[in-house]
Amino acid sequence: TTTGFDIRRVGGRIGAEILGVDISQELDPGIVSEINAALVEHKALFFRGQRLDDAAQLRFASLFGPLTGAHPTVPSVEGQPQILPVDGDEGVRSNHWHTDVTFVRTPPKATTLRSLVVPPYGGNTLIANSAAAYQDLPEPLRAFADRLRAVHTNAYDYAEPRSEKAAEHRRRFVSTRYRTEHPVVRVHPESGERGLFIGGFAQSLVGLSASESRDILRILQSYVTRPENVVRWTWAPGDLVLFDNRITQHYAPDDYGDLPRLLHRVTVAGDVPVGTDG
Ligand code: SIN
Repeated sequence: TTTGFDIRRVGGRIGAEILGVDISQELDPGIVSEINAALVEHKALFFRGQRLDDAAQLRFASLFGPLTGAHPTVPSVEGQPQILPVDGDEGVRSNHWHTDVTFVRTPPKATTLRSLVVPPYGGNTLIANSAAAYQDLPEPLRAFADRLRAVHTNAYDYAEPRSEKAAEHRRRFVSTRYRTEHPVVRVHPESGERGLFIGGFAQSLVGLSASESRDILRILQSYVTRPENVVRWTWAPGDLVLFDNRITQHYAPDDYGDLPRLLHRVTVAGDVPVGTDG
């Protein structure tokens, strides 16, 4: 079993590489709680060259809590309900800023992504620190955001699909409509940090008109996606990325054309987001 690891920060405000730990092996509970603490602090952790299989990814993810079941609408890997294929060839191109599955009552706590096939260039994943975004807001905007609630839905404002595969993926994604409300400022259940909890599925603000919602969400979102608050990961085969889905957003640039790209995603179940009023 592993007894220690090194942490090397990758971005100024988010992201750290974890070195010297083989996560395919059984991990000491002390190591697991240190990795969890690093996750809460750095929000996105990168483990290079791990070369896990599906079973090992499931085992590693489940160290951080019970796993979520199948995605609400998108089919899982055959025979593996808890593994979601993120397959560029199947039109899965997540090139919009979002937090995973915020349109349900209890969005995932954390997401693991494991690279099986990576394009020779492009196909990165960007991850943003939404607590830093909240801290960057001018004080009056922070106070304003603290009181807002957003409506999240999977039937969000999609761009026109660029291929038949993408259109088919889209149809599946919205085949059952979900809609739920969450606070715009979420208090992190472990650190107490406040973060903007919005992203692409947040379509409107409770009590405001559609155009007011759009304008205010756009302003708040611009703080999340500031380059200062973003880390950009260039995948190599066998990498595993673990991010805290309670206090980050991510974006996968669709810049690899027809080159193959395949990740497997496993998520850890989360709780009901709590706002600043408890
Ligand atoms: C996702 O949105 O969960 C997938 C991110 C990616 O394709 O890099």
